[in-house]
Amino acid sequence: MDPTSQIIVALDCDSRAAADVLVEQLGEACGAYKVGLELLTAAGPDAVKALVAQGKEVFLDLKLFEIPHSVAGAVRAAGTLGVSMVTVHGMGGSGIVSAAVEAARDFPGLRVLALTVVTSITDADLADIGVGDGVDEQVLRLARLAQRVGCHGVIASPQDVAALRSALGPDALIITPGVTLSWESPAEHARPGTPHAAIAAGASHVVVGRAVTRAADPATAFRAVRASLAP
Ligand code: C5P
Repeated sequence: MDPTSQIIVALDCDSRAAADVLVEQLGEACGAYKVGLELLTAAGPDAVKALVAQGKEVFLDLKLFEIPHSVAGAVRAAGTLGVSMVTVHGMGGSGIVSAAVEAARDFPGLRVLALTVVTSITDADLADIGVGDGVDEQVLRLARLAQRVGCHGVIASPQDVAALRSALGPDALIITPGVTLSWESPAEHARPGTPHAAIAAGASHVVVGRAVTRAADPATAFRAVRASLAP
């Protein structure tokens, strides 16, 4: 696969202007962006529409965890915006996740991805909220649930990718945020890995944020990530 299409840049910006500058700087090289709660709340759906209008794939990271009726409505709204991917929390269980999957059926280009365990969470954090299983078991449990109810894939940390690929088979999307470039410190990522390691372990895509967007020269940083994925 062309490495460029495996990289999704997280546009974690606090304004439309800041997002526009980054998209301009990355230009044709970058074809896919993750829009999360920060940019969506700051700039509204017009920021998403502008990316779609430029031919960019948008991963709308809504991290839905709501009653099924509300989840379905949010997924339909995402589909109407023309985004390619939307996220729902696997922790919501089959009722919430399948509401997202059903709502997405009206939008053939829209894929629903389940969040398993947020990459900053540790076994101790799970124990704190009454989840007896460790992160590894919980990731697999939620991924299998998501696949059973029809999700197109999962979001998971670099270190969970190999087990997930073997559990979910070759067709599932496995999208990996929380990646750390080999020259960075791991920041708050509890289970980091490089983009290269994530793809080598079987991830379909990696999400790269600050390593590109906060770089002195984002276009050069993007090219470095792409080069690191070259076969
Ligand atoms: O850390 P970075 O800036 O690359 O984060 C990019 C995206 O990855 C964020 O928008 C966040 O949703 C996700 N992320 C994550 N777990 C982390 C750190 C970031 O899922 N520990």
